[in-house]
Amino acid sequence: MSKVFTALAVSVDGYITGRAPGAGRGLGDGTMLFDWYFDGDTPSQVFDGFKLSEPSARVFDGLAGRVGATLAGRNTYEHSGHFGGGGPHPTARLIVLSHRPSPEITEQQTLVTTGIEDAVKAAREAAGDKDVALMGGGVVTEALKAGLVDEVTLHQVPILLGGGRPFFQSLPEHVRLRLIEVVPAPGVTHLHYAVER
Ligand SMILES: NC(=O)c1ccc[n+]([C@@H]2O[C@H](COP(=O)([O-])OP(=O)(O)OC[C@H]3O[C@@H](n4cnc5c(N)ncnc54)[C@H](OP(=O)(O)O)[C@@H]3O)[C@@H](O)[C@H]2O)c1
Repeated sequence: MSKVFTALAVSVDGYITGRAPGAGRGLGDGTMLFDWYFDGDTPSQVFDGFKLSEPSARVFDGLAGRVGATLAGRNTYEHSGHFGGGGPHPTARLIVLSHRPSPEITEQQTLVTTGIEDAVKAAREAAGDKDVALMGGGVVTEALKAGLVDEVTLHQVPILLGGGRPFFQSLPEHVRLRLIEVVPAPGVTHLHYAVER
């Protein structure tokens, strides 16, 4: 069965955006979380225009190559300009989780308003034999609460942002992780965990 994972760029104090993210403002004052996408000399084989350090390209393309569908929260969808009517990944279908209708949803996108289980099910179906990537702290937390996450990767950037949207919100109980791999790279450390059940 396909896996459900999340791999987000995060500050050392746990934020996936800076302050005041939003439509037209991207990550707010946290744009440096994405610097490592572009400040290397190894082109991504999956994402046009990305030039990473060699170790980051290996980790990034390894993950990107697994993605068959992306499941994003409504905030990520709104803050990213509806992904231009497509999705964040060049080939994977985008599923959006929200409590309310979205007039902007296109034929290339799927909106789910009936909860995280249905959203992950729709994403798994769209992914086929590939994996599902989760985007947004709210969606990641909902999926963790429902026991639906297999792996978590922190692309940890050495900065304390001091505020923003957290990768992980509060959970009803602890979730144990098992460290699979650590890859130090220029400007970012890639921490790959399995979720223990
Ligand atoms: N650093 C990175 O790598 C990275 C990656 C991805 C995203 N981001 C950024 O992270 C920010 C968004 O993160 P976030 O944590 O604020 O939000 P999010 O997870 O993208 O979206 C949360 C929203 O999704 C909907 N939702 C969540 N759980 C639901 C459920 N069980 N049922 C129905 N709807 C549900 C709700 O929308 P409604 O109630 O409004 O319908 C909720 O407010 C954006 O600024 C984005 O750009 C950063």
